[in-house]
Amino acid sequence: MSVKILMVCLGNICRSPLAEGILASKLPKDKFIVDSAGTGHWHIGKQPDERSITTAKKNGIDITNQRGQLFTPKHFDTFDYIFVMDGSNYDDVTSLAKTETHKSKVQLILNELFPGDNVDVPDPFYGLQNGFDMVYEMLDEATDLLAKKLIEKHS
Ligand code: 4NP
Repeated sequence: MSVKILMVCLGNICRSPLAEGILASKLPKDKFIVDSAGTGHWHIGKQPDERSITTAKKNGIDITNQRGQLFTPKHFDTFDYIFVMDGSNYDDVTSLAKTETHKSKVQLILNELFPGDNVDVPDPFYGLQNGFDMVYEMLDEATDLLAKKLIEKHS
């Protein structure tokens, strides 16, 4: 059975699609499934933001096949790990958890890099391309550590 990891942000078009694409590129596909979702409904069925696509492409990652989906409580059952991008995503997602086990699946992604510091991945939506590049760098560093940890734990 595959280990399932879900990346969550607000719109599911900027940060979590990058997080999904980057982490998936670092994990063996036969053992891990990586997906993403948003807590907001605006971009369901949509491709990631052009600027996320551009930043990913510059780094050799194709995220054009991704489509936006809404985070729902069902994801607590279907995923083993749920990584959120910022504190407000954390509040939105954990408010839907009915058990402590479900709540404990939810972690801030940058706590992989700075344990316990609760640092946010800033929302780049209202900014320029360089904001997306900065998000990429943060997620790349965090997922280096996360991928190592997951591979060690599940092999
Ligand atoms: P994301 O960025 O949460 O990183 O996907 C956003 C994208 C869209 C919106 C907000 C944040 N929006 O309000 O439409």
